[in-house]
Amino acid sequence: MCGIVGAVSNRNIVPILVEGLKRLEYRGYDSCGVAVHQDGGLRRARSTARVAELDAQVAKEHIAAGTGIAHTRWATHGAPAVHNAHPHFSGAAGSNGAGRIALVHNGIVENHDELRAELQAKGFAFESQTDTEVVAHLVNHLYDGDLFEAVQRAALRLEGSFALAVFCRDEPHRVIGARQGSPLVVGIGKGENFIASDAMALAGVTDQIAYLEEGDVVDIQLGKHWVVSRQPDGSYKRAQREVRTVHAHSGAAELGPYRHYMQKEIFEQPRAIADTLDGVGGLDPSLFGSAAAKVFDGVDRVLILACGTSYYAGSTARYWLEAIAGLPTTVEIASEYRYRESVPDPRTLVVTISQSGETADTIAALKHARTLGMERTLTICNVATSAMVRECKLAFVTRAGVEIGVASTKAFTTQLVALFLLTLVLAKHRGRLAAASEDAALRNLRHLPAAVQSVLALEPQIIAWAEQFVPRQHALFLGRGRHYPVALEGALKLKEISYIHAEAYPAGELKHGPLALVDAEMPVVTVAPADDLLEKLKSNMQEVRARGGQLYVFADTDTHIEPAPGVHVIRLPEHYGALSPILHVVPLQLLAYHTAVARGTDVDKPRNLAKSVTVE
Ligand code: M6R
Repeated sequence: MCGIVGAVSNRNIVPILVEGLKRLEYRGYDSCGVAVHQDGGLRRARSTARVAELDAQVAKEHIAAGTGIAHTRWATHGAPAVHNAHPHFSGAAGSNGAGRIALVHNGIVENHDELRAELQAKGFAFESQTDTEVVAHLVNHLYDGDLFEAVQRAALRLEGSFALAVFCRDEPHRVIGARQGSPLVVGIGKGENFIASDAMALAGVTDQIAYLEEGDVVDIQLGKHWVVSRQPDGSYKRAQREVRTVHAHSGAAELGPYRHYMQKEIFEQPRAIADTLDGVGGLDPSLFGSAAAKVFDGVDRVLILACGTSYYAGSTARYWLEAIAGLPTTVEIASEYRYRESVPDPRTLVVTISQSGETADTIAALKHARTLGMERTLTICNVATSAMVRECKLAFVTRAGVEIGVASTKAFTTQLVALFLLTLVLAKHRGRLAAASEDAALRNLRHLPAAVQSVLALEPQIIAWAEQFVPRQHALFLGRGRHYPVALEGALKLKEISYIHAEAYPAGELKHGPLALVDAEMPVVTVAPADDLLEKLKSNMQEVRARGGQLYVFADTDTHIEPAPGVHVIRLPEHYGALSPILHVVPLQLLAYHTAVARGTDVDKPRNLAKSVTVE
């Protein structure tokens, strides 16, 4: 989603700004731009192409300076077009001229209509349909010789979420940042300072990072910076934000022998799972933080909040938490939960799941749960420095490594590993886990990387299936029990990167409606582990065959499901008991990946989607 980089230095910072944008590219964007303070005025370049094109444009136009801001935009208000791309300029009232204020913005300003009308009445003319240009004009309108003060005053007028970076023609060595609801960090260099929406954008530039908090406004200059924080009465007070050493990974990870990041990330899963389990000696609550034992005492239910793939990880974990730990578990789509009137219980363990740790809906749902008096919060997250980790009392940081492909893969399987550990720890804490079961469960977990590796070896057979999916318009996915969320995840993967319409159903639900869709044109992907529900599943498969549907079955070896006309079978090497969802999702990831490649879509950056969804 949108990305921000800003800098004040004595050297030319344009390469740093552009490189920062490249590091944020994987999050998804549809336009980009850079603006600098050059020759006493504002200069900018904007593009609806890739950052590489912007790079060429700034070189061609000799854009170079020590102060500037840059942005990747994921369109919300106004189409992806150059005139809507950031940075936005605001000149003196009544003109858009060469501009006095340059501004970039992440988030959504909810009261932009009202502000636009007010500013138009004062003579400001608008060039774009964005909510961002409103903010640029507002800052310009409030500017009276001190940009820091103008941004503080403007922030008080804005409703919604935002991270801003702003500079002014009249104050050449100064960039102001503001944070409310969207992340922003300060990077401290030697005699130079930076701001960015993610420390990753500054990798290789500085590892000294301060995380701004809600309501902060920061002033970065050459060799110094200040933070003020907004008080409940609307005044601002000086604030200190701890500077930490952050070894942010570069987003520009090498592809190695792989064609896309998604493929690389699918194949990294054995390593990611092993890393996530590294250091897990036993089932101690401290795996989730030093306060975990206390937080877990008296927990009598679990509420999981998440979006997308992370939601499906939570939906799988529900089966484990109820069956193994005996805890009633509810899994809620974060964007729905936050607006639903629910019945809170303070003895609930609220678990958020997020790869990025910055998903706006999940953060808002977490805050909502807290306002309802549920203070026992835990996150399972892949980014140690994220807002989610900072906001929750307890955290388990998965070690999937940077995930670049928009379609989440290794984040999902490592989330499942973490959720299984949580289940075991809670079961043990509640006296529901015998020592022998604990040992067996840990042994199974440790063998997982090898088991996933042998599933990855099925890739050639899956490529052959993918060819058959290329001309399809629709696909159904079936699963039962804890494999129903796996079917949902398989359908999500297929739809988001191949653009084939895909739906998942618990197989027993077919006859209650979706069976009407089944004919010879309908591929029905079936997740068939050798578990207690196998015979039921086989009956559901018969229902599909009887209507001419084409079954594509991922079956455990001992299921005795044989290939037949209309029944295609790929066998998984071993049945993995409770952990089977972690194995069964892997071929579904590969099927989606190879179908998308064969259809020629932009696999790592599917249309309309962003990696990290930081707006509501
Ligand atoms: O970073 P998060 O895990 O909070 O992201 C949640 C969803 O946006 C994400 O899983 C999304 O559904 C993926 N594109 C799915 O592949």
